[in-house]
Amino acid sequence: MYQEIDLDKMDVNAEPPIEEPDRQYYFMAKCREWVREFERKNGRRPFAFTQTFGCQMNARDSEKLEGILEQAGYEKTDREEDADFVIYNTCTVRENANQRVYGRLGYLHSLKKKNPGLKIALCGCMMQEKQVVDKLKKSYRFVNLVFGTHNIFQFAELLNRMQSGDHMVVDTWEDTDQIVEKLPVDRKYSFKSGVNIMFGCNNFCSYCIVPYVRGREKSRRPEEILEEIRRLVADGVVEVMLLGQNVNSYGKNLEEPITFARLLRKAEQIEGLKRIRFMTSHPKDLSDELIQAMADSKKVCRHIHLPLQSGSSRILQAMNRRYTKEQYLALTEKIRRVIPDISITTDIIVGFPGETEEDFEETLDVVRRVRYDSAFTFIYSKRTGTPAAAMENQVPEDVVKKRFDRLLALVQDISRDVSSRYTGQTKEVLAEEVNSQDAALVTGRMDNNLLVHFPGTAADIGKIIPIHLDTCKGFYYMGTKA
Ligand code: 5AD
Ligand code: SF4
Repeated sequence: MYQEIDLDKMDVNAEPPIEEPDRQYYFMAKCREWVREFERKNGRRPFAFTQTFGCQMNARDSEKLEGILEQAGYEKTDREEDADFVIYNTCTVRENANQRVYGRLGYLHSLKKKNPGLKIALCGCMMQEKQVVDKLKKSYRFVNLVFGTHNIFQFAELLNRMQSGDHMVVDTWEDTDQIVEKLPVDRKYSFKSGVNIMFGCNNFCSYCIVPYVRGREKSRRPEEILEEIRRLVADGVVEVMLLGQNVNSYGKNLEEPITFARLLRKAEQIEGLKRIRFMTSHPKDLSDELIQAMADSKKVCRHIHLPLQSGSSRILQAMNRRYTKEQYLALTEKIRRVIPDISITTDIIVGFPGETEEDFEETLDVVRRVRYDSAFTFIYSKRTGTPAAAMENQVPEDVVKKRFDRLLALVQDISRDVSSRYTGQTKEVLAEEVNSQDAALVTGRMDNNLLVHFPGTAADIGKIIPIHLDTCKGFYYMGTKA
């Protein structure tokens, strides 16, 4: 908990405060009252189940939801069928993410028939789409609470509204320039954490729905970010992942503008912090200053995620990516010149409208030249409301599928080869968890993000340990303590 507020001493019969985050702490106290009443009736506290879909941003948002649920007195469960409250933090970047949510809602409906007291909440990017909310209001009346990405900070208030009524509570905002700081967070890992540095996106890549559901770019003030990192480090965190849709435009619109590279250099100074990662960097505006800040740093991990999307300059232009194939290749060469051992990963979309066999070959060509450590490959998904959805020359499904398989095979071939380059060396590994399949092994991560399994115990977790990399098994290593 961030503030020295004793929720039990709060006067919940007074008028709610207007200021944030005080208002939300007031509603957490209100929710706590409801939970006490539940406990009196049922002899136990209510169980809450959280399911996250999508990216690291959503994962971080879910930690905030769980922080509030914890303050409100809910008990966490990872068994959905035991839950009294279920919340899905949704994603809508591709259509299949939406389909998964609708599928799961069918299952939740069956659970609710068995347990009519079950309350269901939906939030996240999908809820920012009008047609989704309309559909829920019409055909999914058993959902109790719907809210979006812009008012997630109001979760305590909305939860309280849901608890004290029987009707469906729906509250979504179009956009906001508000950033509410100092709300509680319940971290998934004790030793590493995501840290939002900015929200939203202004790039409007023509296929992407993110700018419509996450709104315009807003940066957090550097003092708030650094203060949060200091607090995390004091609480045992050794690795942070700085999160933004495009970290390269961090700080540009602040009252006192600052670059992302400057922020990195400031974070570097924080004593006790061992590793710094960040996501995601747009190739159009990755600065020399950033490359140099990475090269100079002892803490910034030797890894950069640099989404390519397509290797064809023609398609890149239609995608509104604002770089060409040649510029992208020149950028990766420059990065490797300054930071020779860096691992480069990427995102690639196959089957963007109008993509020809020649365009696709250009993508394969970039993959062969850059030799990515790993790549996320996606089949283009038509998102309503984006410019690309209205383009006429959509590529037939069977053609896309064949290209996708060819790309995946190439990416995996190269990745296996590139990943094995450290065999026989000793590298620092952050031990993350006891291996789920073999309890004698611990799984950790090298600074280039590769996984390593090695004999160890739960006592290793959260520590950075030198590990001898014995054998490479494709996308991970088997190692032993050096
Ligand atoms: N179809 C397929 N992939 C998409 N991405 C974003 N929008 C779409 C879409 N409409 C991919 C991009 C992005 C990653 C997060 O998701 O590759 O980098
Ligand atoms: Fe989407 Fe492009 Fe923004 Fe990334 S940079 S979130 S792909 S619009």
